[in-house]
Amino acid sequence: MSLAIQAEGLVKRYGETTALAGVDLEVPTGKVVGVLGPNGAGKTTAVRILATLLRPDAGHATVGGYDVVRDPVRVRSVIGVTGQYASVDEDLSGTENMVLIGRLLGLSRAAAKARAAELLEQFELTDAAGRAAKTYSGGMRRRLDLAASLVGRPQVLYLDEPTTGLDPHARNEVWNVVRRLVGDGSTVLLTTQYLEEADQLADSITVFDHGRVVAQGRADELKRRVGGQTLQVRPTSPADMDVVARIVADLTGVLPARDDDSGLVTAPVSDPVLMSTLVRKLDDAGITADELALRLPSLDEVFLALTGKPAEEVLV
Ligand SMILES: Nc1ncnc2c1ncn2[C@@H]1O[C@H](COP(=O)(O)OP(=O)(O)OP(=O)(O)O)[C@@H](O)[C@H]1O
Ligand SMILES: [Mg+2]
Repeated sequence: MSLAIQAEGLVKRYGETTALAGVDLEVPTGKVVGVLGPNGAGKTTAVRILATLLRPDAGHATVGGYDVVRDPVRVRSVIGVTGQYASVDEDLSGTENMVLIGRLLGLSRAAAKARAAELLEQFELTDAAGRAAKTYSGGMRRRLDLAASLVGRPQVLYLDEPTTGLDPHARNEVWNVVRRLVGDGSTVLLTTQYLEEADQLADSITVFDHGRVVAQGRADELKRRVGGQTLQVRPTSPADMDVVARIVADLTGVLPARDDDSGLVTAPVSDPVLMSTLVRKLDDAGITADELALRLPSLDEVFLALTGKPAEEVLV
């Protein structure tokens, strides 16, 4: 497995504030790694170091094999960055913004125009291409931002909170764009405060809190690490709830919760093989179930367990 980004022991201090307290981060080529963390966790600081915009006080990092401190020009040649704060010029049109960036990257006028048109088309901004960016909706702005970061055909893309503040529809649009990019082989480092976003897009998740990595793994691994699973059974006939509750209690050794409104019997479980036994016992008792599931804790529950903060508290 080749690594597009490899960072070890990154430290960054601002006076009394330790923004990063020794962070390790690995992003395999062609994958999406989500950095999840509340306000002030150090996400943007890490991105800025990896984008050569900030020097670490300690530790080192390579991007595309190049050292961010010793070889910043080469690093910049392989990356594209979409910042947390929009970087397009409000008064310029979509096309003008894109052409300007292409020219700054050294493309000829004709090549810059062609690349602008191609990306605007890809991001469904062709109809708005001639309008000033300040007339764009939030979702269109983010798409223009993303398109702008792709002008130089970067191998590695940093997306710093690409959907913060967007409504669900606009968020979905951005997610689709990211999925398409990854489908085309890009490597993405994505920071987010949204658990759902990391769950949707990232192959693996690194959770930051107070400048440290507090957890790392695939979404399902993080969910598993934090808690056991929950068994849910909904008998087809609500009259069977008592019998189901007794069967579940026998199997799990705990008194299950029953919700008469939803018709669900739920209990925490630690042993996954239990499921087959349960199916057999229900069958023996002649009970059919509309729903029979082992549920992992939600990423929100994971986040709370890892950072001590409920997810809602960190959502904007
Ligand atoms: N230029 C700076 N000067 C002083 N302190 C800074 C500076 N930049 C960041 N910090 C501090 O470093 C810490 C980490 O900030 P950072 O911007 O990396 O967090 P973040 O995870 O990106 O947060 P958010 O989700 O709010 O964007 C915070 O305590 C912040 O106040
Ligand atoms: Mg930030």
